[in-house]
Amino acid sequence: MPQPSLVSVDFKGDVAWVTVDNPPVNATSTGVRQGLADAVDAVQKARVAVLCCAGRTFIAGGDMSEFDAAPVEPHLPDVVQKIEDSNVPFIACMHGNVLGGGFEIAMACAWRVAAPGTCFGLPEVNVGLIPGAGGTQRLPRLVGMEAAVDIACSGKILKAEEMANLGGIDLIADNPMSAILDFVANLPKRPAPVSQRPVGNVASDLLKTSRQALKKRARGQQSPLENLTALSWSSEPFAVAQPKERARHLALRQSPESRALRYAFFAERQVARPSFIAGVTPRDISRIAVVGGGLMGAGIATAALNGGLSVTLIERDMEAAAAARDRVEGLLKGAVKRGKMSEAQLQERLAAFCAVDSYSEAADVQLAIEAVFEDLSVKQQVFAELACHMQRDAILATNTSYLSPVEIFAGIENQSRCIGLHFFSPAHVMKLLEVVHTPQTSPEVVATGFALGKRLRKVSVLSGICDGFIGNRMLAAYRREADYLLADGALPYQVDQAMRAFGMPMGPYELQDLTGLQIAWANRKRNAATRDPNERHVTIADQLCEMGRLGQRTGKGWYRYEVDHREPIRDPEVEALIESYSAEQGITRRAYAQDEIVSRILAVLANEGALIIQQGIAESAEAVDMVQIHGYGFPRWRGGPMNYCKEIGTSTSQAMMEAVAKESPGSWHVAGCIENN
Ligand code: NAI
Repeated sequence: MPQPSLVSVDFKGDVAWVTVDNPPVNATSTGVRQGLADAVDAVQKARVAVLCCAGRTFIAGGDMSEFDAAPVEPHLPDVVQKIEDSNVPFIACMHGNVLGGGFEIAMACAWRVAAPGTCFGLPEVNVGLIPGAGGTQRLPRLVGMEAAVDIACSGKILKAEEMANLGGIDLIADNPMSAILDFVANLPKRPAPVSQRPVGNVASDLLKTSRQALKKRARGQQSPLENLTALSWSSEPFAVAQPKERARHLALRQSPESRALRYAFFAERQVARPSFIAGVTPRDISRIAVVGGGLMGAGIATAALNGGLSVTLIERDMEAAAAARDRVEGLLKGAVKRGKMSEAQLQERLAAFCAVDSYSEAADVQLAIEAVFEDLSVKQQVFAELACHMQRDAILATNTSYLSPVEIFAGIENQSRCIGLHFFSPAHVMKLLEVVHTPQTSPEVVATGFALGKRLRKVSVLSGICDGFIGNRMLAAYRREADYLLADGALPYQVDQAMRAFGMPMGPYELQDLTGLQIAWANRKRNAATRDPNERHVTIADQLCEMGRLGQRTGKGWYRYEVDHREPIRDPEVEALIESYSAEQGITRRAYAQDEIVSRILAVLANEGALIIQQGIAESAEAVDMVQIHGYGFPRWRGGPMNYCKEIGTSTSQAMMEAVAKESPGSWHVAGCIENN
């Protein structure tokens, strides 16, 4: 059977309508490129050709599944050029998303007409690439260099209205197809092809200051800078610069950075559908309760209100309820102040929210999330109350960080409805949600947790039960190795510098100072009795806590802080304490190079991830990596620790792990095999 064509051509009078139909997003896959090239030949008898798309969007980008293989003809730049060179001028008729290759095609058309709200952008930078079909050369010629830098280097998406203000489109119309009929009836004179227009004035220091700003923001990622370089080539003739852009695009497809970012893109989609809930339909949730309106509860309530749910927040008494209400209102009003929410939306959300001190108000909610103190008996009491007042099958969720949900839910009737929903702070901002299932949780309840996560715009990852679940367990391993490094010769600022240089937003010690040392301290004390006696336990952090050095809020922690300043300053007192700890332990301190610090910590992270997978806590390496990227600031362009170790070679990282384990006998389980995960 011949393949149905992905691109069709219809003549209506002297107008040719070229329609791309390649669901779901009309990507520029090989068939579309061929269809478009053929269409340009086919329309040559018409007066004008209209390029439009079936379905919910215009061409929304390239087909990333083709990026690992050698490019197949016809190549996109040739197709784009053919459209621009066509004797019969093209009009792009756009709706939905006009992204990447779609935008490159639109820029080759003589005119651009869009529905209101259509989105324009060159998101190649988000997958470690530069556009390869003239995007970086036509865009500055179309909208000016300043806007082009914003769009290409940071992946900024512009709405049709903004694009029109920049002169990038000719007409916005509610119904572009019918508006085009009027447009072609009085067709203006064909403008010069975008590729042949001058770039216009570029402020003399624009590229230099942009480069400095991007370098700072990108923390080691190269593609924003690559895009800037490609944009700068637009000072050369298009015919010289475009082939350079194409060659660089193809080279970057093979780069570790682009591979990692593409991996992360597909991993996000994979972890959203764990096999545990394959084919399971989630319940519809519209009304929830949040118990505890402190830091986490207020953030969770805000995220839920933003997701369109109605929220009943339950606190201990009316005074605490009023404080919780203020907290939630404060978060919502902050969004209004930053222009992220309209006043009308604020009122809508407040109308869907109440803060109370009585569990009877939760009688008709479909799901309750507990975020009270991290104390087993307090949490057990909360669930006993909830179970008393809510429907027998209503979902009960805990936001505990470390306690076992099995113990928290002990004694609750119908345990198939019990689940962990572990948010990250601040809960209305951080993307990660660990959906924790107990041995009893039903797949339907887990699926509902995932559906809720999607509604709250989270990246949800399924986790089984272990101390700290996936994320905090890996964090504990990370911190443990960092502490061993301190004991053996490194200083906090060296470890922090190394991890920042790797691409983390912060090093482990400055981060502890920011969030406070007390929670981990309490946790260490809680686990002291059950800690493996053979495990090496470095007590430097405990000593700091005992000295009242709990982090920024006490003015000192691993570093010291000037009043009202957040800049960590090396503190000789801490460094002397570390050195005397090593001496007491009989350790001869040695120097660690930045690279060694990074490879040791990364080996430990990947090893812990591998153990987590082997023990069935996480379903896949992708799940582990998404937890690290979306919950802990691991650089997305490195793909997560599991992907990073595969990239540098799993045998290298396994050898490093074995060396690390040998130096602290009894402290580490070596997973053995990272690559089978
Ligand atoms: P928090 O101390 O800021 O807030 C706890 C709130 O619970 C307080 O407002 C308190 O009045 C309320 N509360 C206590 N007992 C209650 C009861 N019986 N009924 C109703 N309300 C009650 O604590 P935070 O930081 O919000 O933590 C809450 C939970 O979330 C803990 O289990 C914690 O481990 C977990 N968590 C904390 C994270 C963090 O970064 N702080 C991150 C992820 C989870």
